[in-house]
Amino acid sequence: MASSKNCFLTLSIVILLVGCANAQLSPNFYATTCPTLGVIVRNTMREAINRELRIGASILRLFFHDCFVNGCDGSILLDDTATFTGEKNAFPNRNSVRGFEVIDTIKTRVEAFCNATVSCADILALAARDGTNLLGGPTWQVPLGRRDALTASQSAANANLPAPTLNLAALISSFSAQGLSARDMVALSGSHSIGFAQCSSFRTRLNNDTNINPTFAANRRGVCPASGGDTNLASLDVQTPNRFDNNYYTNLITQRGLLHSDQELFNNGSQDSLVRSYSRNIAAFRNDFAAAMVRMGNISPLTGSNGEIRRNCRNQEETNEEDTEDLNALLMSWSHRQTDSDNNESNGSPLPLSSASIDDKFISNMEEEEEMAFELLHQMKNTLPSYGLKLNAENLLLDFFREKTKSGISKKMAGSFDER
Ligand code: HEM
Repeated sequence: MASSKNCFLTLSIVILLVGCANAQLSPNFYATTCPTLGVIVRNTMREAINRELRIGASILRLFFHDCFVNGCDGSILLDDTATFTGEKNAFPNRNSVRGFEVIDTIKTRVEAFCNATVSCADILALAARDGTNLLGGPTWQVPLGRRDALTASQSAANANLPAPTLNLAALISSFSAQGLSARDMVALSGSHSIGFAQCSSFRTRLNNDTNINPTFAANRRGVCPASGGDTNLASLDVQTPNRFDNNYYTNLITQRGLLHSDQELFNNGSQDSLVRSYSRNIAAFRNDFAAAMVRMGNISPLTGSNGEIRRNCRNQEETNEEDTEDLNALLMSWSHRQTDSDNNESNGSPLPLSSASIDDKFISNMEEEEEMAFELLHQMKNTLPSYGLKLNAENLLLDFFREKTKSGISKKMAGSFDER
């Protein structure tokens, strides 16, 4: 009796802990604060995949490489600076992970609708889901509400991201260190049903491994010679490289896994039967894959007041705030010049740019310093929502420059507005 009570207590605690770990992530997290989020991400991913099929795979991998390094917190998106070392140049990422520009585009579009609301970490989670699905893979509800890391760790990226040279035991323990099972690992490896690898990632397998189909090896040596051609690409799935399906597993059964680590999943070991089962039952694979993606996406999210919402996925907000200050200072100096009235003397607060403050004098200052005006307006265009500048003020400026364009102000400035 006592032991069944203990059992019940332990079970309750486990359930509670598992439940609490991600208590704050929910698929509806942005339902009221950013209802257009889903559409923006999907449309941008569709555009990106229409331009280049591979990008869906690249973004899926980006998400994996984010989550395995101190949780899914957008840390992989941070650029290195003179004073900050991020994860982009960690060994498994350098000259290999890609897709950052697509995340930037999504972020810019999301910011235009829902300023400083949606984290880069969540955008990446949604983009990975949509990329997979648009290439024929399953879809799933993405729990949301992650916040963005204030930091990143190159050493954790080097330590945690599994190398293609690992054997089965090491692969299992790499995933287990993240709270994922061997089954999750095998299902998630099905991502290698899409995308490409560089010769340097599979050369050793072509030349040293014995569990490789000889015709396949000979064929791959065509793009990956014994020396040179390190960056030459071969598809991870020899049959359908741009279609998310279960051919990856049938390839493993015929010893046509491209990476050493791929073939480890089917090499007379504990996962052989699961590989066979996924190769025969695509529905089981799709279900397990979707569930495992949710579990991977739940790794150590920052929630509540932890972390931040970055407005630019490449920089911490602090840096963005510096830009904000620069722009405010620029606006202030213009504002001071445009009038000697006591308009701006009062409190030194950021420029209260409104239609009223844009008078002829302000405009003539602009004409005098056209380059500066161009620069300023360019910045305004990108950052306007975060300044809360009045739309009518911006429109007034635009009208003014359009007017001036007709009467010969530089084409450069005109071009800046044509993009709008
Ligand atoms: C099981 C351990 C894994 C290892 C050792 C591994 C290793 C690799 C390597 C070496 C590449 C090629 C990189 C290059 O040559 O530049 C690659 C590509 C890729 N990986 Fe993995 N991976 C693993 C698991 C995963 C998981 C869990 C996912 C996603 C959930 C994933 C998604 C991808 C995708 C989609 C690509 C192709 C990317 C592109 O074409 O840009 N991989 N992986």
